[in-house]
Amino acid sequence: MKHFLKLLDVTTEEIYELLDLAAVMKQYVKEGKEHHFLKGKTLGMIFEKSSTRTRISFETGMFQLGGHALFISAKDSQIGRGEPTQDTARVMSRMLDGIMIRTFDQAEVEMLAECGSIPVINGLTDFCHPCQVMADLLTIREHKGTLEGLTMCYIGDGNNMANSLIVGGLKVGMKVQIACPDGYHPDPMVMEFAAQFPDQFTLTDKPMEAAKDADVVITDCWTSMGQEEEKKAREAAFAGYQVNKELMGVAKADAMVLHCLPAYREQEITNEVFEEHADEIFDEAENRLHAQKAVLVKLLG
Ligand code: CP
Ligand code: NVA
Repeated sequence: MKHFLKLLDVTTEEIYELLDLAAVMKQYVKEGKEHHFLKGKTLGMIFEKSSTRTRISFETGMFQLGGHALFISAKDSQIGRGEPTQDTARVMSRMLDGIMIRTFDQAEVEMLAECGSIPVINGLTDFCHPCQVMADLLTIREHKGTLEGLTMCYIGDGNNMANSLIVGGLKVGMKVQIACPDGYHPDPMVMEFAAQFPDQFTLTDKPMEAAKDADVVITDCWTSMGQEEEKKAREAAFAGYQVNKELMGVAKADAMVLHCLPAYREQEITNEVFEEHADEIFDEAENRLHAQKAVLVKLLG
């Protein structure tokens, strides 16, 4: 594994290896043990979109690993003034040990990896959010003891989260049941991948069908970063796609609820369901740190 660009590139074995390493990383933190596996290493973090969790977890993760992280806001650097990605990649490769990038177009992340000579980690694009889904899988495994054979349900927009959950879930052997309205389906590349798993994958426009017997119910915002102008139309399209008490009634009695956050209460999830599952949701948020440290150690260590 040279980069971490999308889960489509990562094998099942590599996903499990990263999850095991993430559990070890978490243990170091819990025991307060020094684990400077990246002593003297520097990670550049390019942000073309806002972030709370991704920035905090990568920056803290690099510090805990004995390295350093640099916050690079696209609009305050030459990236925002149009310096070509090919040049940014080559400059950064001369000084840094790795790059984390959060941007719009997946092609930009792929180009950065292709033109540079250091590992590139995808911190969210419009296409996918692989780091988040590693944290999600870690959280599910912690709570349920296993992943294989469990049923994951995702309700809402066929966005970056849906794309990564489908690929990650199927690769680790979960059943994946998705409910999205027409016009908001997952990416065609992901649908093509999922077609290889006819016994594990279903896509419907009926949330109740997708949530049936689920072990974990997941949702995300209706309007992602960069789609602000579509907010009104999206609220109308997703009106019936809420994770609420009624929907949870058809999932397994001990079903978990996850949300990558930020959450918009009473839109994609009711406050009631959110608070009932807050422990799981904030474990998930914390696990960003541990899961990403595993990725960092694997790529930069
Ligand atoms: N879930 C997630 O990526 O959060 P941020 O946008 O705050 O980084
Ligand atoms: N789908 C959301 C995820 C935020 C972490 C977005 O792209 O804005």
